[in-house]
Amino acid sequence: MSFTIVEQAPARLNRSELAVPGSNTKFLERAAQGSADMVFLDLEDAVAPDDKPQARKNIIQALNDLDWSGKTVSVRINGLDTHYCYRDVVDIVEQAGDKIDLIMIPKAGTAADIYAIDMLVTQIEAAKGFKKRIGFEMIIETALGMMNVDAIAAASPRNESLHFGVADYAASTKARTTNIGGPNADYAVLTDPDADGKREVHWGDMWHYPITRMVIAARAHGLRPIDGPFGDIKDPDGYVAQARRAAVLGCEGKWAIHPTQVDLANEVFSPSEKEVTKAKAILDAMRKAHAEGRGAVTLDGKLIDNASIKQAHVLVDLALQLATVKG
Ligand code: GLV
Ligand code: MG
Repeated sequence: MSFTIVEQAPARLNRSELAVPGSNTKFLERAAQGSADMVFLDLEDAVAPDDKPQARKNIIQALNDLDWSGKTVSVRINGLDTHYCYRDVVDIVEQAGDKIDLIMIPKAGTAADIYAIDMLVTQIEAAKGFKKRIGFEMIIETALGMMNVDAIAAASPRNESLHFGVADYAASTKARTTNIGGPNADYAVLTDPDADGKREVHWGDMWHYPITRMVIAARAHGLRPIDGPFGDIKDPDGYVAQARRAAVLGCEGKWAIHPTQVDLANEVFSPSEKEVTKAKAILDAMRKAHAEGRGAVTLDGKLIDNASIKQAHVLVDLALQLATVKG
């Protein structure tokens, strides 16, 4: 390990994060009763400009009147390039700051963006005498944000998570795709011809690099990396595939832009019994190895060593966290 110890953000379940437009009071009510680990009440892109003042009022009312227990609650404010942003922060934090856990900052571009919101929130919290500090989650969804992802991750002690906003990221980088978070047939390679001259198209994952880059920045700063939206709500298999690959890359959860995606995310980001059993077997085998003075052994014909202990702990600790939180 490095001499630098990475402080971890508060541990929260973040398998599913449901997006709920603040302009729709019915959706707000349903979200409070749903099974998402986290919800973010949206003032940004799911709300039309003319509806923003009413959406703020709806969200403040929903935060104060509905029962959000058992969930982490966040509000997505508008970007710092808009005049909605300061009013979002002031109204939401002044009138319901003790009811929210997190503020989601979209299109984070530089560390100074986080600093600016931190300054506002710190002043309002002090003025209102709130005891609980509001945390931040940042969406990395622009070329600028991706370039500065490390500085953004380190910008405030309030920071808890980074999110990959694939739709805006595609727009910002001028990627030639119009779907939200799915694969693209043009991101593929053609295999060499086989003995019969046949060639195959092998699809790749055009989002591999940005997700991995974000995961590295998040983990290096003790934050949760979270995968963003998948737009085709009629394609649960596609959603699960994208969620699985995000989990494999180190993400702790994924957005749900429709309530039907919530349980899919909860399932994918919970370790299966099989995985946990295997991880426990690794820990047992390594305990035995250490007792016999050995640093590495084979388990089912495969080499395991000290790094395997840490890998196994990722799964076993998550299973433990789930059991604790969900009872
Ligand atoms: C989310 O905000 C996205 O742009 O994908
Ligand atoms: Mg976006």
